[in-house]
Amino acid sequence: MARIALVTGGVRGIGAATCKALKSAGYTVVANYSANTAAADRFRNETGISTYKWDVADFDACQRGVDTVTKEVGPIDILVNNAGITRDSTLHKMTKEQWRAVIDVDLSGCFNMCHAVIEGMRERRFGRIISVSSINGMAGQFGQTNYAAAKAGIIGFTKSLALEGAGRNITANVVAPGYTDTDMVAAVPADVLKQIVASVPVGRLGRPDEVARGIVFLASDDAGFITGVTLSINGGKYLA
Ligand code: CAA
Repeated sequence: MARIALVTGGVRGIGAATCKALKSAGYTVVANYSANTAAADRFRNETGISTYKWDVADFDACQRGVDTVTKEVGPIDILVNNAGITRDSTLHKMTKEQWRAVIDVDLSGCFNMCHAVIEGMRERRFGRIISVSSINGMAGQFGQTNYAAAKAGIIGFTKSLALEGAGRNITANVVAPGYTDTDMVAAVPADVLKQIVASVPVGRLGRPDEVARGIVFLASDDAGFITGVTLSINGGKYLA
């Protein structure tokens, strides 16, 4: 029977590309989303992939969502923690709401989702957890103390989870994309984005499917000896 993969924030951008790539690779795929019902409807009609609505920042909603998916589709073998938001602002102007919103979704969302699936993975002695960080969690970014903190936090979280899961055949890894052609990056002011793209050694934005391929690899049986690592997919940006 095909393994079951759940992708959070799975109806747009890197999440949607990941759902499609996992489906092409033969997995049964389920996409979570939190708010954008129109995008979820479009995605479901286009791909035939089931969508489930809950907010990853809500601990209880994650448990309920995972219970529902388990009942309706089956136990989750592969979790892709992709859901993320930005609330960019320099620190001196950042409100505590902007700080909390990003930490709650981008970092606590990983905890909430992993907590909901980990018992099942431990019992079945198999699991693949791939969490999406960012170049900006590694290098920092002007205007992103909240986002960089959350995305760096994902890396430490994953290394610890990798140690805990290793004995039960559960791997935990990070994919750290650079600037990728998504709605999130399209929201960056045009002049700032132009400078950023100029600083990418390959000279362009990444494509969501280029990031998705890395995630599919880490989900595969071939990646069973890879755990606790961060795979950068960024066009050489961190080198620049
Ligand atoms: N480095 C150094 N100085 C910078 C700068 C930078 N990158 N960007 C702006 N500045 C300077 C400005 O020139 C200006 O200087 P002066 O005061 O001397 O004129 C000053 O900083 C502006 O500071 P403010 O606090 O007034 O900032 P602001 O309110 O104008 O807006 C910002 C700042 C919201 C951070 C805006 O610059 C911005 O949106 N930047 C983009 C941040 C970014 O890259 N976000 C990534 C989103 S995509 C993503 O996150 C996906 C992923 O994983 C890659």
